[in-house]
Amino acid sequence: MLPERIETERLVLRRWSLADADDVLAYAADPEWSRFLPVPKPYERRHAEEAVAGWVLEDWSTNPDWAIEIAGRASGGINLRIDHQHRRGELGYALARRHWGNGFMTEAVRAVIDAAFASLPDLARVQAGANARNTASIRVMEKLGMTCEGTIPHAPRGEQLERREAGVIYAVLREEWEEIR
Ligand SMILES: CC(C)(COP(=O)(O)OP(=O)(O)OC[C@H]1O[C@@H](n2cnc3c(N)ncnc32)[C@H](O)[C@@H]1OP(=O)(O)O)[C@@H](O)C(=O)NCCC(=O)NCCS
Repeated sequence: MLPERIETERLVLRRWSLADADDVLAYAADPEWSRFLPVPKPYERRHAEEAVAGWVLEDWSTNPDWAIEIAGRASGGINLRIDHQHRRGELGYALARRHWGNGFMTEAVRAVIDAAFASLPDLARVQAGANARNTASIRVMEKLGMTCEGTIPHAPRGEQLERREAGVIYAVLREEWEEIR
């Protein structure tokens, strides 16, 4: 099992709580934040409440999902969908726009990959997908030393699928991560 709380130099990653819905609404109602995310638009209070309730109820053994806390407020989230049978984990992450460009997500993703390989001895790879135009997300994966394994013709999510936008897949294998670290 991955730890429910991870502390990095500047961030606290911890389990979601129902009390986080206000903080989520404050950043998720921003259309620039959700440009590449499959979330309802417009994003209303009930969407934040439903989303947080869903994260609280996730099965931690297969989908650990942390709130990213900055200065005491839930300011984003990061999750790892674990496929134990195929020994891989798939990352998802998003951060409130006011905090972009400070290296926070690179710090959060690094901590989660570290924790995943340390806590799950059978885990062989961590991967993530992004819209091919999501430069910031791609930059995070490149800064971490993940490898672009290819492009796919349709980003595999929501309205991006309908718009036929291209996606990219990045991954890092356990032995590569040990080398990078
Ligand atoms: C993707 C996201 C999580 C990145 O978070 P972040 O904390 O700003 O990331 P970091 O600061 O660690 O790194 C971002 C990098 O992208 C770069 N970047 C950001 N926007 C860019 C742009 N439009 N063009 C080129 N580079 C860009 C930053 O300069 C930085 O690189 P640098 O350190 O070399 O300068 C954030 O933009 C976000 O939440 N976006 C909305 C949700 C989303 O798209 N999630 C990913 C779904 S796959």
